Amino acid sequence: MYCFRKVTDDLYWVGGSDRRLELFENIFPIPNGVSYNSYLLMDEKTVLFDTVDASIGRQFLENVEAVLGGRTLDYLVVNHMEPDHCSLIAELALRYPKMQIIGNAKTFPMIGQFYDMDLEDRKIIIKEGDTFSSGTHTLHFVMAPMVHWPEAMMTYDEADKVLFSADAFGTFGALGGTIFNDEIDFDRDWLDDARRYYTNIVGKYGVQVQNVLKKAAALDIRYICSLHGPVWRSNLDYIIGKYNIWSTYEPEVHGVMIAYASMYGNTENAANVLAVKLADAGVKNMVVHDISRTHVSQLISDSFKYSHLVLASPTYNGGVYPVMANYLDDMKALNVQNRTVAVLGNGTWAPMSAKLMEAKIGEMKNMTILTENFAMKSSLKDSQMEEMDVLAARLAKEILGNE
Ligand code: FEO
Repeated sequence: MYCFRKVTDDLYWVGGSDRRLELFENIFPIPNGVSYNSYLLMDEKTVLFDTVDASIGRQFLENVEAVLGGRTLDYLVVNHMEPDHCSLIAELALRYPKMQIIGNAKTFPMIGQFYDMDLEDRKIIIKEGDTFSSGTHTLHFVMAPMVHWPEAMMTYDEADKVLFSADAFGTFGALGGTIFNDEIDFDRDWLDDARRYYTNIVGKYGVQVQNVLKKAAALDIRYICSLHGPVWRSNLDYIIGKYNIWSTYEPEVHGVMIAYASMYGNTENAANVLAVKLADAGVKNMVVHDISRTHVSQLISDSFKYSHLVLASPTYNGGVYPVMANYLDDMKALNVQNRTVAVLGNGTWAPMSAKLMEAKIGEMKNMTILTENFAMKSSLKDSQMEEMDVLAARLAKEILGNE
């Protein structure tokens, strides 16, 4: 049975949510599920903006058919060709044989890569600045390369001032009937998922996100219709502001994430000692993660969130403990930068992890490292407490001084 919602007088949300999927992209845990949004414009011509993931294909097709109400689908705009949005293109092409597909020069080669169907005579290739009229609506096309794939683009509907933003402004999380930002408490219930989505999916491409935000600033936008998560129809500055912070790699919160790896609890103890000293000094914006039990996507998200990072790890096989090494690799791959970092190392006979971690962090852009080979031998000792006190005082001063 169909299950859609009206966005404006003639625009409908026809997407759906998946609450069964464990791992988005087969990597990222999504305990709150994920939505795949698609929008259908019922103008003189009917225009669908993107399709959905195959997992919700049946619901989507029923929604589209119900909203069409016996009309045919004239156009499909493909803003993004990743399979979580393009999986139903072939099915739609079969169901609506006259449907034409609107995309840019990079869209169609990808359609050919994913599908063997001959869609050659159904292509409408547009470029930056082109317009398309569906009757009473004029659509403008805004290229958004690498937000999140090279072919990504956005479509702006001049009549109702709707920005179809592709992955941008999206978030993990299933939609439960309430699809508008003013029907939910986004800051309380969605922001962590939104940050984890942005930082892990698009975090690497801050420069490209900034380029698109500049283009968007020139548009009068009343609705943001992303491919994941709620439709924004109020308080747009809030989510645009978050994107601005994340894409410029500025910390969202003056505070500290302490992320430790620990085999037998000794490195964990050092992390706890530091955390207590920071709390005694008045630091409240603080989170402590055992990284063996925290998915790396959460560590990346908090690396974007907090101004200060403390990383603690034992030495393992002469290198850095594997989960910490993986996190450091991900930090570099996702362009984490502009943070102040302290490193605590441990090792029983040849403690190497502190030096190696500092070297890896040194490869990242604009990182300030507060420590210099703070290395424990098996466990934290009284002789190292003075150094720990100095570190805690410096961290607290910087964090509290900027709150
Ligand atoms: Fe939601 Fe880049 O796909």
